[in-house]
Amino acid sequence: MLPLNQNPGPERETGTPACTSAMPVLPMTREVLAIDGGTPVRKTLLPYGRQSIGEEDIQAVVNVLRSDWLTTGPKVAEFEEAFAAWVGAKYAVSFSSGTAALHGAAFAAGLKPGDEAITTPMTFAATANCVLYQGAIPIFADVSPDTLNLDPGLVAARITARTRAVLPVDYAGHPADLNAIQELAASHGLIVIEDASHALGAEYRRRRAGSIADMTVFSFHPVKHLATGEGGMVTTNRADFTDMLRRFRNHGISSDARQRQTDGQWHYEMVLLGFNYRLTDVACALGLSQLKKLEKNLSRRREIAARYAAAFRNVVAVMPPVVRADVNPAWHLYPIRLNLERLSVDRGRIFRALRAENIGVNVHYIPVHLHPYYRDRFGHRAGEYPVAEDAYGRLISLPMFHGMTDDDVGDVVRAVCKVIDGYTL
Ligand SMILES: Cc1ncc(COP(=O)(O)O)c(C=O)c1O
Repeated sequence: MLPLNQNPGPERETGTPACTSAMPVLPMTREVLAIDGGTPVRKTLLPYGRQSIGEEDIQAVVNVLRSDWLTTGPKVAEFEEAFAAWVGAKYAVSFSSGTAALHGAAFAAGLKPGDEAITTPMTFAATANCVLYQGAIPIFADVSPDTLNLDPGLVAARITARTRAVLPVDYAGHPADLNAIQELAASHGLIVIEDASHALGAEYRRRRAGSIADMTVFSFHPVKHLATGEGGMVTTNRADFTDMLRRFRNHGISSDARQRQTDGQWHYEMVLLGFNYRLTDVACALGLSQLKKLEKNLSRRREIAARYAAAFRNVVAVMPPVVRADVNPAWHLYPIRLNLERLSVDRGRIFRALRAENIGVNVHYIPVHLHPYYRDRFGHRAGEYPVAEDAYGRLISLPMFHGMTDDDVGDVVRAVCKVIDGYTL
């Protein structure tokens, strides 16, 4: 594991300008920041993430619009099979969103009132909310300081007789410490639901996310690697989970409408209390088309990450994300942490200064336990998860999406260097 300020970065020349702020810049040579009335680095805002839709994607959707099936038709099974094969899982079950997929996985894991499930505070609220949907209680464990993923040692300390599942999140696309978590889960009879909403295509010990945990959840929101508008998927190697997931997303009914039409049957049975969480044929056609470009899009994200890492490697006030030796991240996000001890201003000021330069930065995440709902309902308070909370005060997500051009990447680097130079002590 590497210290935070020694990201290895690539040795090769990347062609992206390197940050000059490895050394403090004399005040008279500093550029006037856009926030102080200077000229912004870009004329238009570069978002932190966005989808790329090509003509082939549009055609795939149009073809479905002209077909007999708008929802649960042939494209659903086609997308699920192709997706399962791509990640290396036996089964994939599509859902109308990543959140619905998490709910399905929490249901299939058998979570019920009185149960507990352990997860990370450094995530989007949906990861913990799915536990609440089942009437169970999310228990947080703090994260490791390098990856900001669940710390398995701290998970172990939170296991009780009521614990039933662990939900690691592959933060920013860097896989969680899955071996340690799986071993812990196996020794306590727990189910592992990996939230890989950030990590489609990420590899952990040369295996793709989606092929490792008991169930793995993905999201196809437009800022993700593969976009279907809204959409999600659960992958698993277990047939029993697959059956439950399929029923749960379809009102708890044991067959689908197309099957009944094909078989000339009207009879169906509702066998459990489910929801309408189906992903449409339109969305699945888009997903199939996007899946064909996934390898290329992942390579582009990895290239952008390498350029950022090279540009910021010697910048004392910036800590690029750490990459452990046994993973290949998928880079949904590129969250830098600010070395605030070397800056004259706080994260908020750096954030606003970057926005003024027209760089669409974001912050991932406000630790979940600090949201008013969680504070009010469970009495959580600041100071409970110090690693996640300290990271939160320093984090800024830089733009990261596969459609970024080299000029876009250069603009981000220039703006970060300009702003950091402006405030480095
Ligand atoms: C870690 C994580 N889990 C779950 C979700 C929910 O996914 P969706 O927006 O598809 O419902 C997100 C969404 O961004 C996420 O980042």
